This record gives sequence, structure tokens and C-alpha cells, in this order.
Amino acid sequence: MTTTSVANEENIVWHQHLINKQFRAEQKKQKPAVLWFTGLSGAGKSTIAGALETRLANAGFHTYLLDGDNVRHGLCGDLGFSTQDRRENIRRIGELAKLMADAGLIVLSAFISPHQAERELVKDLLEEGEFIEIYVNTRLEVCEQRDPKGLYKKARAGEIQHFTGIDSEYQPPLNPALELLAGEYTPSELAEQCIALLKEREIIG
Ligand code: ADX
Repeated sequence: MTTTSVANEENIVWHQHLINKQFRAEQKKQKPAVLWFTGLSGAGKSTIAGALETRLANAGFHTYLLDGDNVRHGLCGDLGFSTQDRRENIRRIGELAKLMADAGLIVLSAFISPHQAERELVKDLLEEGEFIEIYVNTRLEVCEQRDPKGLYKKARAGEIQHFTGIDSEYQPPLNPALELLAGEYTPSELAEQCIALLKEREIIG
């Protein structure tokens, strides 16, 4: 740990503002949550999260969709795909999702997040029941066949290293709240499965 971070921990105190999470959530008439979509590149995480967000927004809920490719242009633009960088990527997104949940939002996140440990880390940052892990389970062969960005082809040709599913590990969730078989159903049907879960968990009415 650097001198600066030690100083920060000792001398910086969390300021409890008057307008708090509960107020902001009640104002929005919803329960904050982080819907954490995990799965291989090309599995359909962003597409399903997008379809779900559209439904939620049209129903009047306040949402924000955090997307791997977008976040890596800005907040995490300095990070690559080594195990260490992926861990830092997920740590930053976890902290960001926590702030957004504190703002009263329903956060949808779409990141490969290949390691169980990092997903646990995000879960531990949040309040009990707030982290909802959704495993977008699409077989590697299907993702590779789709190859929407041509990255699997590059990975197979050795032009990209540490590509998830090719030469970098993906650890499927052990006990996800929901498993979506994205090779078998349409994004719209899968979004409906998410809605059913959110109702069951009383995130939405
Ligand atoms: S994560 O592993 O750190 O969670 P993240 O979801 O942010 O990954 O970014 C994944 C996206 O980056 C993929 O959808 C793909 O478009 C792109 N990408 C570029 N290089 C790689 C790589 N080596 N492994 C996986 N995805 C990569």
C-alpha cells in the first residue's frame, strides 16, 4: 500500500449526507439493484441487458446500463486483459455500480467478469439481496460462430492474447440467480425471464 492510500484511509471520513439512498429510491418508487450479467464475449449480455433496460425504462423505472466495451473506452481505458487488469476493471465497475445503486438506480451491467472471486467482490460491496447474478450461458461454439466483432477469429489466429474461452479461463457462476440459455431463446424472451425474476425478488412491482 502506498503512503497516499494509508493517509487516505486514516484521514478521510465518509460524509453522511441528508439526502440518502432510501430517499432517492423512494423518490424513484423502486428498489435499487445491480443486475450483473456475466458470460463469454458474444454470449448476448449487452443485447439482453439492453432489451431488459428498454422494458424497465418504458415501465417508468430509472436505470443505467454499464457495458464492457463502453466502459473500457473511458473509466477503464487504461486496462488490458491480464488477470490483474480484469480484476481492476471489475473492482472499478463494482464501486461505480455501488454509487449508482446509492443513487437509487436499477443498474444493469454487462461484463465478461470471468472470475468468481471478482464477482464475489462486487457482491460484497453491495447490500444483502442487491447483487443479482445472471449467467448468460451461451456455448463457446455459438459465440465463436456469431463472432460479432471478429475477435474470436483474431484470437484463433494468435493476433489477440488472453482471449476469454480461447486462451483465458471463464469460471461459470456457481449459484446464479438466473441462468439464461441465450443460444435457445430470443433476447426478448430472455428479457421477460429477467422481468419475472425481478418481480419474484420484489425489485419491481
Ligand atoms: S472483462 O473480462 O474485464 O470483464 P469486459 O467485459 O470488460 O471484459 O470486456 C470484454 C470485451 O472486450 C469483449 O466483448 C471484447 O469485445 C473485447 N475484448 C478485447 N480483447 C479481449 C480479450 N482478450 N478477452 C476478452 N474480450 C476482449
